[in-house]
Amino acid sequence: MQRILAIETSCDETAAAVIDEGRHVLSNVVASQETIHAAYGGVFPEVASRQHILTIIPVVEEALTKANVGWRDLAALAVTYGPGLAGSLLVGVNTAKALALARHLPLVGVNHLEGHIYANWLRVPPNEAKEDPRFPVVCLIVSGGHTDLILMTGHGEFRSLGSTLDDAAGEAFDKVARMLDLGYPGGPAIQKAAQSGDPKAVSLPRAWLPGTYGFSFSGLKTSVLRLTREYAARGEKVPVADVAAAFQTAVVDVLVTKTLQAADEYDATEVLLAGGVAANTALRAAITEQSDRPVRYPPIWLCTDNAAMIGAAGYFAWQGGRRSGWGLDVVPSLALA
Ligand code: KG4
Ligand code: ZN
Repeated sequence: MQRILAIETSCDETAAAVIDEGRHVLSNVVASQETIHAAYGGVFPEVASRQHILTIIPVVEEALTKANVGWRDLAALAVTYGPGLAGSLLVGVNTAKALALARHLPLVGVNHLEGHIYANWLRVPPNEAKEDPRFPVVCLIVSGGHTDLILMTGHGEFRSLGSTLDDAAGEAFDKVARMLDLGYPGGPAIQKAAQSGDPKAVSLPRAWLPGTYGFSFSGLKTSVLRLTREYAARGEKVPVADVAAAFQTAVVDVLVTKTLQAADEYDATEVLLAGGVAANTALRAAITEQSDRPVRYPPIWLCTDNAAMIGAAGYFAWQGGRRSGWGLDVVPSLALA
């Protein structure tokens, strides 16, 4: 048994988890600051780091208690060191360093995006009976900060095929939700509103950026803004459900088409979804229906930020020989490939 304690504090969730052999979740504790930041309509960085300081130790203790393991049962400690908010990352990295030093445990720095991808290695429903993904895989990472299409040819081997030129997919969901007065975080709110809407009732553009695996969502976002202003100018009520449905369909269309093109070009064995927007049910349904290859995505609770995914990524990195020294520092703009 090779158990890893993982810590994640890159944004607004204080999280710790204990993972066995990179695949089995023994505990997964997430203290969300969502209600605190909702008042600001987004994450307030100083408030986030202060909150991490208050909750990190109780969260780590709870993760160990729930997993029913002691310090002696651990093989290593994994921690997110980027990308993310500097002040938030610092709390996790310094806590992990102090614990590793005190408990004589190897320390493994993990890239947050690598973590999102490795959530697909965790043996929990709907993936509990599956074997590990076989390389090469094409992975779509869609979160509040990222929209990246990645070719993964082995453990720790990532190649960026394309990313967003402007807004991240989740950021677009959050901004459009604000325009439609649906609140924060926007993704789940848009998804809910879209359920009773007709995506064909309004027409919204898609940025295809042909010949590339790049994405762009700012034009779509601006179109929604223009649309809401036109309704207001005419003194009409915005058909919120229809606009939400049309927006969600436009985002999903582009994400699915480009991901499946990449899967074909690189003859991927499997397609993986990762990141907060991978929780979107319309995205999951569309890609599963349109793909000729198996599609895998983590359960919703492992799509949004958590430490279990950091433990999975940390395990495979640790197995591959990765060790971080006491000089491990935060890298807010850390890239994956
Ligand atoms: O991965 P994540 O928890 O944090 C980052 O690393 O960014 O992703 C958060 C993002 C937010 O923008 C949120 O609106 C979006 O994921 N999200 C969703 C859904 N659930 C969360 N977007 C679309 N549909 C959802 N169901
Ligand atoms: Zn994330």
